[in-house]
Amino acid sequence: MWPLCLGAMLIIAITHWVYRWRNPSCYGKLPPGSMGFPLLGETLQFFSPNTSSDIPPFIKKRMKRYGPIFKTNLVGRPVVVSTDPELNYFIFQQEGQVFQSWYPDTFTKIFGRQNVGSLHGFMYKYLKNLVLNLFGPESLKKMLPEVEQTACRTLEKWSCEDIVDLKEATARMIFDLTAKKLISYDSTKSSENLRDNFVAFIQGLISFPLDVPGTAYHKCLQGRKRAMKMLKKMLQERREMQKKEQEDFFDYVIEELKKEGTVLTEAIALDLMFVLLFASFETTSLALTYATKVLSDHPLVLKQLQEEHEAILKRREDPNSGITWKEYKSMTYTFQFINETVRLANIVPGIFRKALREINFKGYTIPKGWAVMVCPPAVHLNAAKYQDPLSFNPRRWEGIELNGATKHFMAFGGGMRFCVGTDFTKVQMAIFLHCLVTKYRWRPVKGGNIVRTPGLQFPNGFHVQIMEKDQTKQEPEFDETK
Ligand code: HEM
Ligand SMILES: *[C@@H]1O[C@H](CO)[C@@H](O)[C@H](O)[C@H]1NC(C)=O
Ligand SMILES: *[C@@H]1O[C@H](CO)[C@@H](O)[C@H](O)[C@H]1NC(C)=O
Repeated sequence: MWPLCLGAMLIIAITHWVYRWRNPSCYGKLPPGSMGFPLLGETLQFFSPNTSSDIPPFIKKRMKRYGPIFKTNLVGRPVVVSTDPELNYFIFQQEGQVFQSWYPDTFTKIFGRQNVGSLHGFMYKYLKNLVLNLFGPESLKKMLPEVEQTACRTLEKWSCEDIVDLKEATARMIFDLTAKKLISYDSTKSSENLRDNFVAFIQGLISFPLDVPGTAYHKCLQGRKRAMKMLKKMLQERREMQKKEQEDFFDYVIEELKKEGTVLTEAIALDLMFVLLFASFETTSLALTYATKVLSDHPLVLKQLQEEHEAILKRREDPNSGITWKEYKSMTYTFQFINETVRLANIVPGIFRKALREINFKGYTIPKGWAVMVCPPAVHLNAAKYQDPLSFNPRRWEGIELNGATKHFMAFGGGMRFCVGTDFTKVQMAIFLHCLVTKYRWRPVKGGNIVRTPGLQFPNGFHVQIMEKDQTKQEPEFDETK
């Protein structure tokens, strides 16, 4: 009798739990959508790889079935997915009031509990200013010659090699440049390689959070540990060195730490350094690889880009003088090209927030504590806003600055948490492209295929052969595609 009773109770309890999982309690009307399996939710479907460049099938299917706002469950959290421009706008505008940036636990374990993304209010504003000081327009102006030198020298080196994996090589270039700006790190002079610790990262971030030897997640955490140890050691050494004036970000941080009543701690500074190193090289190298691939596939776009950059050289008195800020600002087509590249690359497939209180929007209720995910690909590939959304057409951006299309462009986020690296990214991309299209030509050799999980990936890299342009001959490169 007892076991039967217990069994029945267990079944009732489980049934109730499953029912609650599928029908979370809410005073209002939850958006439509399925919460998936207990515990797993729809996590596996969400991360399932696809080669399409369209809106991820996971999102597209649900948009069709449920409309622009729907609920689901990812990594154990109830999530409302928003593909609705007005809700997106509302979410970005209400940062800190109704919504707060939120990352899954796996992210905070890897990036540190005190990373910028997880900080709010005063501390967040403080850090943001710190970073803008480093990557804002004033610093970028000063940085321009260095960025150009790095790009040109790197390309020169690549042209001497047989084949270069652009995904790998651009990541190395950008990491080295950023690490130099931040901590004056020189990979050629260091016994330990700092970047090696960041390599297994993307896989670790989006993998199942199981911290046992052999898993991607474990490797990722180990990488963080080693990288943090190195950063800590470097900070320590620098403190003992006693520099006179501020040169890099470390010096700046050391000055800040010395100030009386400062809110900055060493732990926060180190977490920040780690996030910046990661955020810069992984995203920008994807964007540059994507850009080069697009140029290989679109000879006319390449031609127009080339014309813009050759015209800059022609206007100069000394063609070998470096790029000026004025010249940089004049690269209209290049900026349109960069916009179009990041619109279609959709490097960031989801931007997460947490609801700080219950919200009613367009007849739906988002309960307090739920996560919301803004879905940039759904915005960037919306046929109502971008005609023929999958075609690559930089000219579509012509005149767009006049009507401030921020609601329909969120590759760099929006609102208060707009990416602080946007300008830095654009400088690096524009300058690299300048050197590439004026001095070199290239031939894709292998790889270049794209997989989205749903984040952009080049599983086989993008291997190209880079050759110096023969300045004396007419370029045959456009004929090759005919
Ligand atoms: C193609 C390149 C890049 C893309 C697509 C990109 C995208 C984004 C997006 C979408 C956000 C908003 C996240 C959110 O709202 O939760 C963001 C934030 C951020 N980005 Fe970038 N980013 C890029 C390059 C960079 C670079 C080069 C840096 C480093 C200097 C950087 C540093 C950051 C930081 C620190 C934040 C957090 C800001 C905050 O929480 O307020 N990003 N980025
Ligand atoms: C991508 O998703 C589409 C639509 O769901 C599906 O038909 C296709 O098989 C998927 N392709 C790959 C390579 O996963
Ligand atoms: C790129 O997109 C942003 C956001 O919509 C816009 O403000 C900017 O003017 C665009 N740049 C160009 C050159 O079209």
